[in-house]
Amino acid sequence: MASSTVSTGWLFFRKFLRNPREVGALLPSTRSLGDEMVRDLSLTRGDVIVEYGCGTGSLTASIAQAVQRVPGVRYLGIEREAAFCDVLSRRFPQLDFAADRVENVQALLAARGFPAPRAILSGLPLILLPNMEAIVDGALEALAPGGEFRTFSYIQSWPTPAAFRLRRAFREKFASHGRSPLVWSNFPPAWVLRGMKHDDLDD
Ligand SMILES: C[S@@+](CC[C@H](N)C(=O)[O-])C[C@H]1O[C@@H](n2cnc3c(N)ncnc32)[C@H](O)[C@@H]1O
Repeated sequence: MASSTVSTGWLFFRKFLRNPREVGALLPSTRSLGDEMVRDLSLTRGDVIVEYGCGTGSLTASIAQAVQRVPGVRYLGIEREAAFCDVLSRRFPQLDFAADRVENVQALLAARGFPAPRAILSGLPLILLPNMEAIVDGALEALAPGGEFRTFSYIQSWPTPAAFRLRRAFREKFASHGRSPLVWSNFPPAWVLRGMKHDDLDD
């Protein structure tokens, strides 16, 4: 294993010990979960993709590929840990990361002159956060009409009240919603949840 992978994993683990609720996982997600997060995402020139809670970039690798495939797509990653942002900027020099809180998404987009995003892909440990519903509301407000919010939910937390609240938020707040097959090759296995914002063109 490359020494940079070991040191990035160690940084992730140390941040988890210091702040277990907000880091929310002992290990970064696998590439297969990242690929499921971007599956069938329809992007066109000028679209903006926002990633919430990038950590050390395990989902970012898949998102970067999806962004690269379509010329003129712009990316903003929001990660509150400055040390993670340093790692991210080294791993993905072509992408833009803000060391900030996702609660400030609208201001961060405005500062860059970006339009409302086509997709917000979240690696946040939403069910551990006290403001889970407010974060989902904020994402829904920030998204372009017809835009998508995606996150993942681990198999072991599926029956918990907080995970139930998250699924209810998807049902009640989005115009339509769905989930992927279980990604067994992630540790722990997880589903990707998708919520689609109402598109004005549907009226
Ligand atoms: C479970 S880790 C996910 C890392 C990576 N996306 C993955 O799936 O492996 C969650 C990340 O969200 C970040 N985070 C938690 N709350 C946040 C907030 N309010 N704003 C921005 N980042 C936040 C944490 O610092 C952490 O890096």
